[in-house]
Amino acid sequence: MPDNIDNLLTEGRRFAPSPEFVDQAVAGTELAEQAAADRLAFWAEQARRHVTWATEPTETLDWSNPPFAKWFADGRLNVAYNCLDRHVEAGNGDRVALHFEGEPGDTRTVTYAELTADVKRAANALLDLGVGPGDRVVIYLPQICEAVTAMLAVARIGAVHSVVFGGFSAESLRSRIDDARATLVITADGGWRKGQVSPLKPAVDAALAVDGESTVRHVLVVRRGENEIDWTEGRDIWWHDAVAAAAAEHVAEPFEAEHPLFILYTSGTTGKPKGILHTSGGYLTQVAYTHRNVFDLHPETDVFWCTADVGWITGHSYVVYGPLANGATQVLYEGTPDSPEPGRWWSLIEKYGVTLFYTAPTAIRGFMKAGREIPQAHDLTSLRLLGSVGEPINPEAWMWYREVIGGDVAPIVDTWWQTETGAIMISPLPGVTETKPGSAQTPLPGISVDVVDDHGDPVSNGEGGLLVVPEPWPSMLRGIWGDPDRYVETYWSRFGDRYFAGDGARRDADGDIWLLGRVDDVMNVSGHRLSTAEIESALVSHPIVAESAVVGASDETTGQAVVAFVILRNKKKKSLSPEEAVAQLRTHVAQQIGAIARPRTVFLVDELPKTRSGKIMRRLLRDVAEGREVGDTTTLADTSVMTVISEGMR
Ligand code: PRX
Repeated sequence: MPDNIDNLLTEGRRFAPSPEFVDQAVAGTELAEQAAADRLAFWAEQARRHVTWATEPTETLDWSNPPFAKWFADGRLNVAYNCLDRHVEAGNGDRVALHFEGEPGDTRTVTYAELTADVKRAANALLDLGVGPGDRVVIYLPQICEAVTAMLAVARIGAVHSVVFGGFSAESLRSRIDDARATLVITADGGWRKGQVSPLKPAVDAALAVDGESTVRHVLVVRRGENEIDWTEGRDIWWHDAVAAAAAEHVAEPFEAEHPLFILYTSGTTGKPKGILHTSGGYLTQVAYTHRNVFDLHPETDVFWCTADVGWITGHSYVVYGPLANGATQVLYEGTPDSPEPGRWWSLIEKYGVTLFYTAPTAIRGFMKAGREIPQAHDLTSLRLLGSVGEPINPEAWMWYREVIGGDVAPIVDTWWQTETGAIMISPLPGVTETKPGSAQTPLPGISVDVVDDHGDPVSNGEGGLLVVPEPWPSMLRGIWGDPDRYVETYWSRFGDRYFAGDGARRDADGDIWLLGRVDDVMNVSGHRLSTAEIESALVSHPIVAESAVVGASDETTGQAVVAFVILRNKKKKSLSPEEAVAQLRTHVAQQIGAIARPRTVFLVDELPKTRSGKIMRRLLRDVAEGREVGDTTTLADTSVMTVISEGMR
């Protein structure tokens, strides 16, 4: 994307919302006016409007010890109560919370009253297992109702969840369990993916069998795939048994606004994932505020569908906390978009009358490739707003999304945010903004962002630079679990008290923001974050590897793809054919980290390009991986190395 930014900025198409949309829009221009008049008063008002507090906060922001923020610090609330009981108390217990659809076609409709009852019992089951406030619970589940129930049950008792995406390996799971010192794991026997049961429990067993004492005392197992699993007596408990034995009534106790809500691990620039910590009151305020205003949610009539897995931040904020805090009705789908037939998603939109749809550009590009006949075979006229998240959306995909899925009328909101920001930061407001294909455009009311040069000076319109957030925001991360120094160093050391997002951005002539992708060694593959360093260390842990370098190369469908350059150990080279070595290495990375990290391409090379100080020049490897003329090599210790690499690959 950075290479064609000059083309992007000549993008002249503009789409104003229709008068009918504007007429009924939740958010108008008044939000920006209120936020501009008094930013903190604006957030205090959002906290009142979107959250039911057991004790109303009198303080808004404490920024006396930057970068450690406190929002609404003297307020008290229960997050699960806000997502459940209060809707039932308001007379909306019969409203559908979840239209669940399993991949094999099984369905379950869960109302707010039923979800509240399920969560109460699950909360009691956790208490019976000795889980208490502040304890960490790892959740490793498919996209099923129990994932939502489990997260809310943990939150309800003031424990802290750490959801690990079901595609991560046993090794990744263990390192997250250990880092969080979790005492309980909630998993399933398996879940449905691409027409088959994909087992999960064996990965938990393998993770807990790793040498060294684990902190985990119990494993709660949801029955879903009905696949055969091993059982450790005394440690493993069926979820349905624990829930059936638990009391039905549970009164939600309030916790402080800054009480930890969850840890979510994400990739950084080193081999060790960062446990991003989010807390309660500020997080809930901003996810509810953004969910309502960015998606123009009318909870009585809309059907919302966010396709993200609960294992990612998008699933936390826009499957669980935002929609449920707002009393929305939503679709929860377990499986893959094209299983058992390529139109599965579109048939779900038709079946449930989805009105608001939120997905990632990679999925859109995948559908573009498969052809517009597939969605066009379905009635998608219920859709009235479309969202995009996770990676830059190219104008071509944006236009296809608008025309083919949105019937040329539904506004598109391209939402920029991160695991660290907790909620949407930059996005059009659908009833206000004239949208531009490919641009996230403007910070939301209450949020300030800037694009700065290397010295931290704001760039002019038409210029590019680095994205920073100059003012703290309610759903900001509160730290990296167990590592305050890394928190300061990663986000706050480059530009003082301005948050450094790690993204490049450019302002157009109107001052609107176009996101250009990461400027650090973090890759974005299909909207999922991966670290080059983590994959490199997985590769060198294989006995045949002497050295490796990994880059994210542009890919038409997945945005970026993992490309590895590997030097094999001399002795091992002879015993394997190059094809065998490559196949082993791809499998090894998938086993170490998870299938999402499996390199698309592995190049076996004799040298890697390094500076005189020994730093690998990934920029040059990216040139090779993307088939470009290799750029400036003058800072290399050995300038002939790129010729060796390029020739060796032919
Ligand atoms: O590079 C940006 C990209 O995704 C990164 C955050 O990844 P993660 O923490 O996994 O969260 C993804 C879902 C919120 C960002 O640093 N990104 C996210 N949304 C956009 C985006 N890039 C361009 N446009 C977006 N709308």
